Amino acid sequence: MGHRALIFDSGMGGLSVTQHIRAHMPGLAMTYVADDMFRPYGNKSAQALRARLPGLLATLEMATQPDIIVLACNTASVTALSEIRAAVGAPVVGVVPAVKPAALTSRTRTLAVLGTPGTVKRKYVDDLIENFAGDCRVLLQGSTALVALAEDKMSGRGVDMDILRREVAPLFERRFGADIDTVVLACTHFPLLVDELKQVSRQTINWVDSGEAIARRVTSLLSKRPENRRMEPPDCALLMGPDAELARRDVFAQYGFKRVVGLYPNI
Ligand code: DGL
Repeated sequence: MGHRALIFDSGMGGLSVTQHIRAHMPGLAMTYVADDMFRPYGNKSAQALRARLPGLLATLEMATQPDIIVLACNTASVTALSEIRAAVGAPVVGVVPAVKPAALTSRTRTLAVLGTPGTVKRKYVDDLIENFAGDCRVLLQGSTALVALAEDKMSGRGVDMDILRREVAPLFERRFGADIDTVVLACTHFPLLVDELKQVSRQTINWVDSGEAIARRVTSLLSKRPENRRMEPPDCALLMGPDAELARRDVFAQYGFKRVVGLYPNI
């Protein structure tokens, strides 16, 4: 008896959100889906994501019967949240950049939003900045390579620190970059790299992500929904595409997904 959540991302980034949700709701049953075959989302057009995601989430909802869907992907949320909500029945919690908490705490009033190229160019993010960080200077930086580095780390391949440095250093070299005291990790893959990010940044930074706020929102929404009476099967990760890497299975197991299943959908 209880609730089941469907956690969705293009890859393993959603695990950075999962850990907060597990801490808040240890008894919550979860199904994790990684859309490996379409990653990275961050360099896909808005049109391509809007064409793919509503139908895919509706299919996954039918297959997994969740009480709540966590769109653990900033790129998907800022691009297609309303289209996805219209396609599914369960409530959808979308992870979006934590601009508001970042603006509340920045002393220098100079923030950066480090996300995928797709995320940092969407109007959704412009609106967040206008509404919650109107008195701040906000530098936007997009990176697709960091997504791949996070996947490398979670697959046991290690992180290429030269690439990481090359992706992040220009942010602090830009005009006003030296004033940045807060960086919004606006891609769920990036909190998985926070230790490495700290190693390559020369100034003291408050790294902010949305994981904790999402966990609170999920807890609050589920507390208002009746519990289901199913016997829940063990938590499972469904990987859309081939899954050859055993290290990856170990990581999913560490996050509570004891079963990992590779799917080869024809979509
Ligand atoms: N983890 C995703 C996000 O939060 C997207 C990564 C990608 O596939 O580009 O934006």
